[in-house]
Amino acid sequence: MLGGKNILLGITGGIAAYKTTFLVRLLIKAGANVKIVLTDSASAFVSPLTLATLSKNPVVSDFVQSEGHTTDWNNHVELGLWADLMIIAPATANTMSKMASGNCDNLLLATYLSAKCPVFFAPAMDLDMYKHPSTLETLEKLKSFGNFMIPATSGELASGLHGEGRMAEPEDIISFVKKELSLGLPLKGKKVLITAGPTYEAIDPVRFIGNHSSGLMGFELAHCAAKLGAEVVLVSGPTKYTAAHDSIAVIHVVSADEMYKAAHTYYADSNIVICAAAVADYKPKVQASQKIKKSQSSMQIDLVKTKDILLSLGEIKKDQYLVGFALETENEVENAKAKLKRKNLDAIILNSLNDKGAGFGGNTNKISFIDTNSTIQTFELKTKADVAVDIFNEIIKRRYA
Ligand code: CTP
Repeated sequence: MLGGKNILLGITGGIAAYKTTFLVRLLIKAGANVKIVLTDSASAFVSPLTLATLSKNPVVSDFVQSEGHTTDWNNHVELGLWADLMIIAPATANTMSKMASGNCDNLLLATYLSAKCPVFFAPAMDLDMYKHPSTLETLEKLKSFGNFMIPATSGELASGLHGEGRMAEPEDIISFVKKELSLGLPLKGKKVLITAGPTYEAIDPVRFIGNHSSGLMGFELAHCAAKLGAEVVLVSGPTKYTAAHDSIAVIHVVSADEMYKAAHTYYADSNIVICAAAVADYKPKVQASQKIKKSQSSMQIDLVKTKDILLSLGEIKKDQYLVGFALETENEVENAKAKLKRKNLDAIILNSLNDKGAGFGGNTNKISFIDTNSTIQTFELKTKADVAVDIFNEIIKRRYA
């Protein structure tokens, strides 16, 4: 959720400033771009060099900064507009009261006033300061501006006293920010089920019938759904890909029968279901229990149909928005529409093998999104990550807009 986000960290002069080194590391680990603006007193508690090294960006604290023969103007407006979100941690009583009154006597405060993004602040101070009516009034005022307060916690304070006033721990600051950001996401509270990858149908203990599906399209769909706020179950056949999001649970399966079982286990609870797997249509009638020896000059393997997972889900559909894929080589649109009807789908994603770069194996795909009204939305050739975004935009437009 924080990957690729521009995060501006404002650090003010409290002892908890030392903890911001860990916060910066966590933000960088989460894939964020971090810039830091520091008040003069904060630099007495945490080294700008440490912060610059961890954030991989110069740390700024003055409007005008001279180094050798050069003098730079640190533009607070540019910094404020660069940020996708600003976190002020620790936020001292002094800085917060200035934020609340529009005081602007340092670079951090000027940047705060210029920032149009969501602003989070994590108060830190001694317990009596935290309880003081003027502090309480300040906190309420900042919240009324739409700023998000990350409450201080209770514990031992730098003064040696015990009570409320400790800055939230870096991990908790990150969780708070993530939770708050996710509330505005379009698939928050929704459950998405996705099938992905190939299935392997065993011939004997060492051989199988499979296909070249990489699973990438399904994994990109899962990542996209998770980024949009959904809880995702990804039922995947054998693949080299891994899911990199806390909200994705991967259920690993091998055969069509296992995929059928897993998909049915999670189906009833799901709001959106996308079958992107390239399920084997046939499996060996009998699976040899021992490795088959090459004693004969030729051999036949009897095949029987696998269960059509998507069809079976369509038959018991209640409120789920059910989407299938169709890989076609001729009469593409007609075949896809017929599949949509036969399998009782809400939409079908058509790949034509006549389009270069479409289908499975590669990193790109070219799709048409067809719904039950026969509305056809055709997209350009794109990366599978971008195709996933297009697919969810179409679903959200039809189901949740
Ligand atoms: N599918 C499935 N279970 C199967 C076969 C297919 O869930 N046993 C799903 C795929 O995940 C895909 C859709 O059905 O979403 C279309 O699969 P495809 O193989 O293209 O079409 P079929 O319906 O099998 O028809 P045909 O092979 O005749 O084109």
